[in-house]
Amino acid sequence: MLASFEATPDPRLHELMRSLTGHLHAFIRETRLTEQEWQRGIDFLTAAGHITDDKRQEFILLSDVLGASMQIIAVNNGAYRDATEATVFGPFFVEDSPLIGNGGDIAADASGTPCWVQGTVRDTEGNPVPGARIEVWEADETGHYDVQYPDGRVAGRGHLFAGDDGSFRFWCLTPTPYPIPHDGPVGALLDAVRRSPVRAAHLHFMVSAERFRTLVTHIFVRADPQLAIGDAVFGVKDSLIKDFAGQPAGTPAPDGRDLGQRTWHRAQFDVVLAPAR
Ligand code: BEZ
Ligand code: FE
Repeated sequence: MLASFEATPDPRLHELMRSLTGHLHAFIRETRLTEQEWQRGIDFLTAAGHITDDKRQEFILLSDVLGASMQIIAVNNGAYRDATEATVFGPFFVEDSPLIGNGGDIAADASGTPCWVQGTVRDTEGNPVPGARIEVWEADETGHYDVQYPDGRVAGRGHLFAGDDGSFRFWCLTPTPYPIPHDGPVGALLDAVRRSPVRAAHLHFMVSAERFRTLVTHIFVRADPQLAIGDAVFGVKDSLIKDFAGQPAGTPAPDGRDLGQRTWHRAQFDVVLAPAR
């Protein structure tokens, strides 16, 4: 059977097809997969296809909950000195997010507790990376991204650029745990294996600059109890867990913003970019 791929002109495609087919056959032999189970698998993939559209990508979700997405990241983003670690991209990034500028607020109308995030973007020698583009996105306190609402709102996302000294700062919402979309076949699978769809609270970042490897990552909230329970897509790395320090109502904000009687949090995230390959 593997010989049927011998005529493949593209050597990489040849390698991938041989390996994939070999592992698939080994899985069938090892588990003695029944015809009913094979049909169940086909039905599952068919349902994943039917629910997938330009807003919902059930196959990436499947890859995420199987840990395959994190494995791809591990294979393709080997540690480089003290460069910030990457984690899963997720399905909720949107191109052309609003420019909020350094010191701006990504929350727009999204609900939640205000959070001030500041940090620097540097290279592995410690030099600032002026002008690095910083994309930030997150769910609101009900656990929904803007794109999950039917009204076309844009909230909880934005981009800014690091200053000449590599520094950045912005307002966002204190991240809270939320479930990945679990109303489709992947949710049914998690249910069947008694796994939770909940992700540990996080704030997404994508940091890019010329001559550097684009970093896709999150920061996680150290005080979040979900960290001990687990993250549905295995995205947590110790180096990405940060203190989100609670600030009592009345604590002056770093930029003088009037928060009235609201409590807020603050976090520091110093990004280190690896050079482009
Ligand atoms: C997210 O963090 O946005 C996410 C990641 C993987 C699957 C679903 C959501
Ligand atoms: Fe997320």
